Amino acid sequence: MDLHSRQLTLGSGIMPSVGLGTFTFFGKHGSPDEMESAVGLAIDAGYRHFDCAWVYGTQGVVGRMLEKKINEGVIEREDVFITTKLWNTHHNPKLVLGELKESLNQLRTNYVDMFLMHYPTGQRDQGFSGELALSTDTKDYECYPLEDVWKEMERCHQLGLTKNIGLSNFTIDQTKIIFDCCTIKPSNIQIEVTPYFLNERLVKFCIGRGMTVTSYCPLGSPTHPVRLAGEKGPLEDPVLMEMSKEKGKSVAQIILRFLIQYGTSVIPKSVTPSRIKENINVFDFELTEKEMQSIKSLNKNKRLYNEIRLKHHPEYPFDAPL
Ligand SMILES: NC(=O)c1ccc[n+]([C@@H]2O[C@H](COP(=O)([O-])OP(=O)(O)OC[C@H]3O[C@@H](n4cnc5c(N)ncnc54)[C@H](OP(=O)(O)O)[C@@H]3O)[C@@H](O)[C@H]2O)c1
Repeated sequence: MDLHSRQLTLGSGIMPSVGLGTFTFFGKHGSPDEMESAVGLAIDAGYRHFDCAWVYGTQGVVGRMLEKKINEGVIEREDVFITTKLWNTHHNPKLVLGELKESLNQLRTNYVDMFLMHYPTGQRDQGFSGELALSTDTKDYECYPLEDVWKEMERCHQLGLTKNIGLSNFTIDQTKIIFDCCTIKPSNIQIEVTPYFLNERLVKFCIGRGMTVTSYCPLGSPTHPVRLAGEKGPLEDPVLMEMSKEKGKSVAQIILRFLIQYGTSVIPKSVTPSRIKENINVFDFELTEKEMQSIKSLNKNKRLYNEIRLKHHPEYPFDAPL
């Protein structure tokens, strides 16, 4: 990837390097109205990539604002890259297509640009309801062969309902299973990557296989429960704060720029107008090799999103060697 590139090349088209995250922790860190207006502000600020998921419960407001901006002639549908994700409770091959259709309905579009398997961990179907879908009960684990779920993801692609299909929160071994069975390759993987969690082996493996990598919680998710309990994240890191002063850029901009130069796309979430603008304004400066190395040395190999409620699931992905 060109260091100054605003986009990554995919099997089918391009993915803008910066997208807006739309997970509000079920309204705790952004009301539906705030998320809707964030999407509008983001479009005005130049965002053309929106990261959604069925389970976030925000697709309705994202879709409403995208439709409004299309109707106003500000953007055309083809200008925006929309990702959505298959939730754990819909791994049953009979449910995959239905979930995507439900997402398309909420997003008010007839296709998405990327449809990802959100996790490799299937759970019992509890209906199309966000809250029920977060069961912590091991009795609700339900495994379908990853190959069978992928076949349905491929069907969604063949039906023209998604331009690309991909993975999220998969290990190297689970990704290999998909490569070994697929007729359509996964073109993207969305995983946690931050200066504190470089996820190096997985990133290298996926890029080596021709996939693009998207870094989720790129800023270290300051409103994640672990952070709210007091664990400091990269936004408060002294080395990054010093670099921010030297370069005249915010810590968030330094982190996002780092992750783009590291070879990934980034999907910071914000409902704050100034931050929405700040987070996409990362293409007018560059980090030197020395600065990149100094940020890499902050790696703690400690992930934030460990989905402890799925810990005993046979496909639990977060114990794999780093
Ligand atoms: N595939 C997966 O399993 C998975 C998992 C987690 C997340 N994701 C995706 O990744 C997106 C981002 O992850 P995330 O929301 O957990 O974490 P994040 O983007 O690292 O952090 C978001 C938080 O940082 C604050 N923030 C945003 N810009 C800032 C800035 N410039 N300076 C200071 N604070 C700033 C936001 O607050 P305000 O909104 O109040 O401004 C928000 O609370 C999600 O929204 C979702 O789309 C995917």
